[in-house]
Amino acid sequence: MAPVLSLSHISKGFPGVQALDDVSLTLERGSVTALIGENGAGKSTIVKILTGIYTPDAGTVNVEGRDRRFATPKDAWAAGIAAIHQETVMFDELSVQENIFMGHMPGGRLIDRTAIRDRTKELLARIDADFAPETPLKRLSVAQKHMVEIARALSHEAAVIIMDEPTASLSRHEIGELFSLVDQLRDEGRAILFISHKFDEIFRVSDRWVCLRDGRKVGEGLTAEVTEPELVRLMVGRPIDQVFPKRDVVIGEVVLEVEGLSNATEFADISFELRRGEILGLYGLVGAGRSEAMQCVFGLSQPTRGRIVMEGRPLAPRAPGDAIDAGISYVPEDRQEQGVVLPLGIRANITLASLARHARGWFLSSSSELDATRALGDRLAVKAASWEQPVMELSGGNQQKVVIAKWLATQPRVIILDEPTKGIDIGSKAAVHAFIGELVADGLAVVLISSELPEVMGLADRILVMHEGRIVARFARDAWSAEAIVAAATGAVAADRAA
Ligand SMILES: Nc1ncnc2c1ncn2[C@@H]1O[C@H](COP(=O)(O)OP(=O)(O)OP(=O)(O)O)[C@@H](O)[C@H]1O
Ligand SMILES: [Mg+2]
Repeated sequence: MAPVLSLSHISKGFPGVQALDDVSLTLERGSVTALIGENGAGKSTIVKILTGIYTPDAGTVNVEGRDRRFATPKDAWAAGIAAIHQETVMFDELSVQENIFMGHMPGGRLIDRTAIRDRTKELLARIDADFAPETPLKRLSVAQKHMVEIARALSHEAAVIIMDEPTASLSRHEIGELFSLVDQLRDEGRAILFISHKFDEIFRVSDRWVCLRDGRKVGEGLTAEVTEPELVRLMVGRPIDQVFPKRDVVIGEVVLEVEGLSNATEFADISFELRRGEILGLYGLVGAGRSEAMQCVFGLSQPTRGRIVMEGRPLAPRAPGDAIDAGISYVPEDRQEQGVVLPLGIRANITLASLARHARGWFLSSSSELDATRALGDRLAVKAASWEQPVMELSGGNQQKVVIAKWLATQPRVIILDEPTKGIDIGSKAAVHAFIGELVADGLAVVLISSELPEVMGLADRILVMHEGRIVARFARDAWSAEAIVAAATGAVAADRAA
């Protein structure tokens, strides 16, 4: 059968980097193709070419037998290509239904409001989303906004549906729903391009795979005929040990004490102690209140009850600046909203939260800034053309690394890492894990919020499990099992294993 879509000999360069170099690939009807590769390999660049955001320097895009040149995203949409982008491109001030039908309202010149509401309701029901079409987008969580993106892609009878890391901010339940939806779309005969760093997802949903490395296609085939280590070797160019480098670190005195911390709706009675050299894992399902509780410790919100003691002194941060002054940093999960200033360069972003350290009298010392940037950027394996490159030009995973570097540059004594490896490729993940190990060996104390069980179990000394805003279980290293942790996170049991 002829492919629905074929890319032939596509190249695309940016100043300092050849993002794609002579890449050809096809998408077939009723088939899911996984596109894999390290951070910066060129995956999202392919998506942007297919959706008319970038034009290729060379090569052709052919849809259903016709060569196409997409000058704008509208052209690609009209040719039957819909995408769920890695970074959402939607409007916070508009409602859910306006975002879904932006640019393609039913009803011709007279906008048919009832039709829009009904269609939106249908679409939301199809993906099991429980908010109303009229809800302003800004009132939704990151996961819910993602659902709106998915509904938008479905609002169009597209022959090709592209999903660029669609599961990164979804909960386990929502991911399950998304996979059934993918199965359904495949059965309807659509061609799907699926991008993910998670191998379990790739093996669950895809029929075929294509691997990119440094902008070149380095392999393709059928998913049923390949193994995970083979794919990893192709992606990274070397085998990766997925073992966690748990180092023996002497655990010191208590640095941070949190007692009975509560707010009105999101979390209640959060108590724990954190010691020097310790990694405290905070596990739970998306929505369990982990981020909200830790954002409160960082001064992003105010508690209704409870107290925080940092290095023996009571701390009531009214804003993040107070927490930073006391030696606490927080690396947010959502890099676009809380993490980076996209138009600024890497150096400016990394040093943003720690400018005082680089001041020499009234001036900022740019050599000291650059040294700090280089030291952190290299250790986290940030891939960029230069340290001055605007962060918005970096690939998604590399933006995430810049966020981590920025908060480390404040030289905290306590660092809260919220899903630090979300969107990060398997090779860089090992670098980030090793780095966390080095930080605690240097005497830092870490709170690690992660929804990836192997990651928390691999790195943490103790694990606290949250469910519906409360700590429901505490485990000491070696007194835990994956089953017990998951059971606690789903609210099935409460457990206390002497942690
Ligand atoms: N607008 C741009 N200007 C300059 N460079 C860019 C631009 N867009 C992408 N790049 C560069 O092109 C390369 C490929 O980026 P791309 O976003 O396609 O990677 P990716 O495979 O999607 O990675 P990730 O897994 O991190 O999302 C990177 O080196 C990136 O910095
Ligand atoms: Mg990408």
